[in-house]
Amino acid sequence: MSERLIVHVPLDQGRDYDIVIGRGLLDEAGARIAALGGRAAAIVTDDTVAALYSERVRDALEAAGLRSGIVSVTPGEASKSYATFAQVCDGLLGHRIERGDLVVALGGGVVGDLAGFAAASLRRGVRFVQAPTSLLAQVDSSVGGKTGINSPLGKNLIGAFHQPRLVLADTGTLDTLSAREMRAGYAEVAKYGLINDSGFFDWCETNWSGIFSGGPERDEAVAICCRSKAGVVVRDEREDGERALLNLGHTFGHALERLTGYDSARLVHGEGVAIGMALAFRFSARLGLCPGQDAGRVANHLALAGLPTRLAQVPGGCGDASALLDAMAQDKKVREGRLTFILARGIGRSFIAPGIDAADVRAFLDDELRDV
Ligand SMILES: NC(=O)c1ccc[n+]([C@@H]2O[C@H](COP(=O)([O-])OP(=O)(O)OC[C@H]3O[C@@H](n4cnc5c(N)ncnc54)[C@H](O)[C@@H]3O)[C@@H](O)[C@H]2O)c1
Repeated sequence: MSERLIVHVPLDQGRDYDIVIGRGLLDEAGARIAALGGRAAAIVTDDTVAALYSERVRDALEAAGLRSGIVSVTPGEASKSYATFAQVCDGLLGHRIERGDLVVALGGGVVGDLAGFAAASLRRGVRFVQAPTSLLAQVDSSVGGKTGINSPLGKNLIGAFHQPRLVLADTGTLDTLSAREMRAGYAEVAKYGLINDSGFFDWCETNWSGIFSGGPERDEAVAICCRSKAGVVVRDEREDGERALLNLGHTFGHALERLTGYDSARLVHGEGVAIGMALAFRFSARLGLCPGQDAGRVANHLALAGLPTRLAQVPGGCGDASALLDAMAQDKKVREGRLTFILARGIGRSFIAPGIDAADVRAFLDDELRDV
């Protein structure tokens, strides 16, 4: 096996694991997954990714002596549902996945969340491997053990913490990702700079196009993001504190996803996050917490990478301030008219801000909707 970038996630109780990063890694999936033990490894994927990569992975697994099978779901956020969850669990049982066997999540964040939750539930928990194939999944969702599905009442409301045993991020798979999904994943890349690493945001401003074109910057960025996320996860695995910073832009973003009916034709997760991060910085500036110049720099960079940064850019609209506030209330705890947000004192200086007055948020959203 070739030399690869490896980020170790040093969780306790024998739950530590490696994130292996590099181009062409899927061909090594058999040997690397077989090294974990077990007799079978079933692949969970979606129809788009299945057509591109599932046979290659199945062949690699079988060549390494593992029995394998494929469960494929319809692509898109709508598959993070009770019905598809049942389809995946029954599919895995149909492939005779036992306690000592493995589930391989091959795909974007939807497949990772869904397959991870199925692995957490199947026979009260089987091990699983993340093989993320979208940029968003490689830099974010495949690391950290959050798994789950959506309820009609809100996003990610049903789920479990279940850490993977291994993450294999084949950065070559991003060559087939659509430009739009690539940009959406890039929002999460920039997020790491905005949270606590202004040097990385500077680096992104200079090097972002290399990530898109598949230069060495791509592997480097994935490794930097995974290292950052791994650090946060090890310090605060179950989101009692610091891990919430990873939700920068997500309170607004999740509300927009909800108001657009999780319809990826209108808005995908990373686009919601991009608008959400731009809003979080502008809101921080309005509250006098953050220099307006930083808020401008964030929006400019996201826009340069082709991402939306304003509510007016949501196709089909997103309702008024009341609709947005209602949708946010589903996502976050609201206590006596107060919300918790991730705000910023500047680029790389995000913090958890409890007790934000809903009236301030409403006034801000009213102005944003008028685009003033
Ligand atoms: N668990 C976590 O910690 C966490 C963190 C962030 C986001 N998420 C979740 O991740 C999901 C979003 O993930 P996503 O953006 O990867 O969406 P996704 O899984 O829907 O993938 C996006 C699209 O790209 C396609 N695709 C994936 N890889 C491809 C490839 N290599 N070539 C061609 N097409 C490819 C998929 O078929 C899909 O149509 C959301 O449900 C979000 O809630 C979870």
